[in-house]
Amino acid sequence: MSFPALLSLSLCFSMMSAGFLHSMPDRDPASTLFVVNTSYRISGDFIPDVRSAGVPGQSRHLQAEAAHALEGLFAAAKQEQLNLYSKSAYRSYGRQKVIFGRKVNANKGSEEKANLYVALPGASEHQLGLAADIIGRGDALHPKFADTAEGRWLAENAHRYGFIIRYPQGKEWITGIQYEPWHLRYVGKKVAEEMLHAGLSLEEYTSKKRAEHYQYLLNLNKD
Ligand code: DAL
Ligand code: ZN
Repeated sequence: MSFPALLSLSLCFSMMSAGFLHSMPDRDPASTLFVVNTSYRISGDFIPDVRSAGVPGQSRHLQAEAAHALEGLFAAAKQEQLNLYSKSAYRSYGRQKVIFGRKVNANKGSEEKANLYVALPGASEHQLGLAADIIGRGDALHPKFADTAEGRWLAENAHRYGFIIRYPQGKEWITGIQYEPWHLRYVGKKVAEEMLHAGLSLEEYTSKKRAEHYQYLLNLNKD
């Protein structure tokens, strides 16, 4: 057996025995690329380590790396005389359940309509401690936020601090969520830059990476 074939075989065995799905960052709960959405949900037991970011806001807890990045983002905005505000950061499963229930009531009992705006419990990346709703002080969580100075600045600069606008306009059919120019998701600087320049949503980006990974494995068997 050739060396590439042997390598590929041993890779297959190690993937199977180690639960290979977790080797992909989008399925790894410890990765900043962990994808949570309606298709990939987390249980109520998922409670990340979070700390309070040193920024103004009513809800500011995030995983340490994301909290540090958010502090950098706020400091840079301040240099431009923009006062950002963290409206909602880490949310527990229970809190998400309450918010979702309220949205269902506001939509005459329709879970489907509510789900355009609020993720189902277990499907919100606020529960990951990697997302924060950032607006200008006094702004509403409304798509028109994109037209404010703060909204424009976030769209142009969030990637420099490792954040993406997670629910972009035009990708609703992929994310399942309305355009949310305020919802920042931490993915790290390199990935945020790559995603912005390629115009990809998180679902598209991680699918592309998965396709590249499988193509790499398949190529090991050639020759
Ligand atoms: N508003 C976003 C989708 C959430 O509830 O996580
Ligand atoms: Zn949000």
